[in-house]
Amino acid sequence: MRRTMAMVLALALPALPAAAQDPGVGGALAVRWCMACHVVERNPPTATDSAPSFPAIAARSGTTADSLDSYLSTGHTLMPDFSLSSRERNALIAYILSLR
Ligand code: HEC
Repeated sequence: MRRTMAMVLALALPALPAAAQDPGVGGALAVRWCMACHVVERNPPTATDSAPSFPAIAARSGTTADSLDSYLSTGHTLMPDFSLSSRERNALIAYILSLR
């Protein structure tokens, strides 16, 4: 599992365009890496109850770019450690906040 993830990351990284802050880029990353557990789209065809949906996370009053950044920068219990680069983190944060 860890190895598979590392391979996925290794394959994904060179394809990242320069404008990684673009919510569109974050959306593509979310589909690739986060969709296994989270609902990552505004109007999902299916729902999961294993993890909070990205639109629900975006809608919380406490959610800010800073709160997402610290959440995604630290390891946490149930989520795999993606070791996101700051560009990838920022793109994902821009995407999540774009769901507001
Ligand atoms: C293996 C399943 C899994 C994957 C894959 C996953 N997550 Fe999560 N995520 C969870 C679970 C479960 C929680 C809630 C419990 C926790 O904090 O660990 C969570 C919580 C979160 C939260 C905090 C929500 C809150 O309560 O404020 C954010 C933000 C988040 N995930 C973002 C992401 C992003 C971005 C990705 C992709 C890079 C991702 N997750 C991939 C399972 C996952």
